[in-house]
Amino acid sequence: MDEIFYEGWDAIERAWREGLTPDPLLTVSEWADKHRVLSSKAASEPGRWRTSRTPYLREIMDCLSPMSPIERVVFMKGAQVGGTELGLNWVGYVIHHAPGPMMAVWPTVEMAKRASKQRIDALIEESPAIQERIAPARSRDSGNTILAKEFHGGVLVMTGANSAVGLRSMPVRYLFLDEVDGYPLFVSPNCRQPNGSDIDRAGCGCGDTRQVRRHASRWTAVEQRGGL
Ligand SMILES: Nc1ncnc2c1ncn2[C@@H]1O[C@H](COP(=O)(O)OP(=O)(O)O)[C@@H](O)[C@H]1O
Ligand SMILES: [Mg+2]
Repeated sequence: MDEIFYEGWDAIERAWREGLTPDPLLTVSEWADKHRVLSSKAASEPGRWRTSRTPYLREIMDCLSPMSPIERVVFMKGAQVGGTELGLNWVGYVIHHAPGPMMAVWPTVEMAKRASKQRIDALIEESPAIQERIAPARSRDSGNTILAKEFHGGVLVMTGANSAVGLRSMPVRYLFLDEVDGYPLFVSPNCRQPNGSDIDRAGCGCGDTRQVRRHASRWTAVEQRGGL
């Protein structure tokens, strides 16, 4: 039988092979070393992220990688040790490599707005791999607002621990709790659970089902022994 010659065949075969290639098994720290750039707008040492600069964060970040069996990571820490940066690396990883609904919580809605403008926007602007997955905020219906960033296969919603409404009604796969020591004890008078319980149920109202798959909560150690 005569062979049919088609010029575009090589390109089709290449695209087909690329489609079959599984995602690389990158950990969050490897992703950060490869893709994260610290912005002068938000970091004291702008430039490429190097996990070797803060090696104690490596294992904590890697527990947040999809191949880790760990489901809840609690980081008890001192001030200014890279805790928020660690969370931002995780956010970047999720957007780029493991998309799904994610919620990030700060003590108040005002703080969430500030973190979004200063740190999340800088994360997006400085890392091309993330930028190309999030529409510019200017365009109408872009899914990109101060407190919500839509990306292919997921959405990052940011809120305050003081907002019972913000914590309700959203099933999330990933939950990042920043500055937990600033959270109010009770989120709402109608749901008198200590804040940890309310937050655990983020995305589930005050029901019993825990839909939260992966949970990173952190706080600045209130009791610090010895000098900093
Ligand atoms: N690996 C790193 N390389 C360079 N700068 C870092 C690194 N980790 C943290 N920093 C910087 O240290 C400062 C404190 O980090 P941050 O995440 O805000 O700390 P925390 O949330 O623990 O208070 C920020 O300016 C941050 O950009
Ligand atoms: Mg912080």
